[in-house]
Amino acid sequence: MSEPSTQKLTPAEFAATPEEHARLAEGALVRADNLVAGYIPGVNILSDCNFFLRDGEIVGIIGPNGAGKSTLLKTLFGLIPVREGSVSLRGDNITSAEAHVLVTKGVGYVPQTQNVFPSLTIEENLEMGIYLRPKKFSERFEFVSELFPLLGERKKVKAGALSGGERQMVAMGRALMMEPSVLLLDEPSAGLSPMFQDEVFIRCKKINATGVSIIMVEQNARRCLQICDRGYVLDQGRNAYTDTGTNLMNDPKVIELYLGTLAGSKEKK
Ligand SMILES: Nc1ncnc2c1ncn2[C@@H]1O[C@H](COP(=O)(O)OP(=O)(O)OP(=O)(O)O)[C@@H](O)[C@H]1O
Ligand SMILES: [Mg+2]
Repeated sequence: MSEPSTQKLTPAEFAATPEEHARLAEGALVRADNLVAGYIPGVNILSDCNFFLRDGEIVGIIGPNGAGKSTLLKTLFGLIPVREGSVSLRGDNITSAEAHVLVTKGVGYVPQTQNVFPSLTIEENLEMGIYLRPKKFSERFEFVSELFPLLGERKKVKAGALSGGERQMVAMGRALMMEPSVLLLDEPSAGLSPMFQDEVFIRCKKINATGVSIIMVEQNARRCLQICDRGYVLDQGRNAYTDTGTNLMNDPKVIELYLGTLAGSKEKK
C-alpha cells in the first residue's frame, strides 16, 4: 500500500545511482564507470561499480568483508582484467593499464598485505619505490622522512624487524617515493594498535595536505569517515551508498546495515 514511500531512495542511495554518478563525476581526477571485474572466469566480483575521486579529496571505501573493496582498488591499479566498464585518470582512459605505467602517471598503491620486503632495510624498501627514477632518491627520501621521521632514523633496520605500524609507514613511504598525485591505500590501519591506528589517519591527513589525493579502503569505518571528504559503501561489488563522510556516518540505513555489522564482524577477526 505504502510502496512508493518505502521505495524512496535516501540521498546517499540516490547519489550512488548510475545517473547521479555520471553527473557528479564530471571532471574527476579518477573515475570508474560501470566496472565489471573478477578473478575466476564467469564470476564477477565487481558488477556495475561506479566510483570517482576529485582532485585534492580523501575518499573512503567501506563495506562488509568480501564486498569487493580490495578488488576495486586492484582494478583501479590495473591488477585485475576489466570485463566491462572503464577507468580514467585526468580524463585519459587507463582501463587495464599496467601497474608500472600507472606509477609513472602518478598513481601509488599500497596493498592490504605483504606490502614491504621484510629482508630489505627501510632504506632499500624506499629505493625499490623509486627504482624508475633513482636520481630523485635523496630528495624524495627527505620528503618521506619528514612525514615519517622514524623511517629516516631507522633506515638501516630490516623491515622484517619492525612492528605492524612501522611496516605500514614503510609501505606508505615507499608508495610516496614516486611523488604520486593519487594514493590508493588498502586498510592501512588494519591489525594495528589503537594508537598506531590513529597515527595512520593523522598521517593520511598530512599526506593529503601535501597535495596527494587519497582513496582509502578501511575496516575502521567510523574513523575513516571522520577524516574523509566523501565515502562509498560497497556491497556485493557495487556502490550502494555515497555521500560526505559526515552524512554517511549519520545515515540511519548505513548505520543499521553497515556500521554496526562492520564493527561486529571485524572485532571477531
Ligand atoms: N585472488 C582471488 N581469487 C579468487 N577470488 C578472490 C580473490 N581475491 C578475492 N576474491 C574474492 O572476491 C570477493 C571480494 O574480495 P575482496 O578481497 O575484494 O573483498 P574486501 O571487500 O576487500 O574484503 P575484506 O574486508 O575481507 O578485505 C570475495 O568473495 C573473495 O573471496
Ligand atoms: Mg580487502
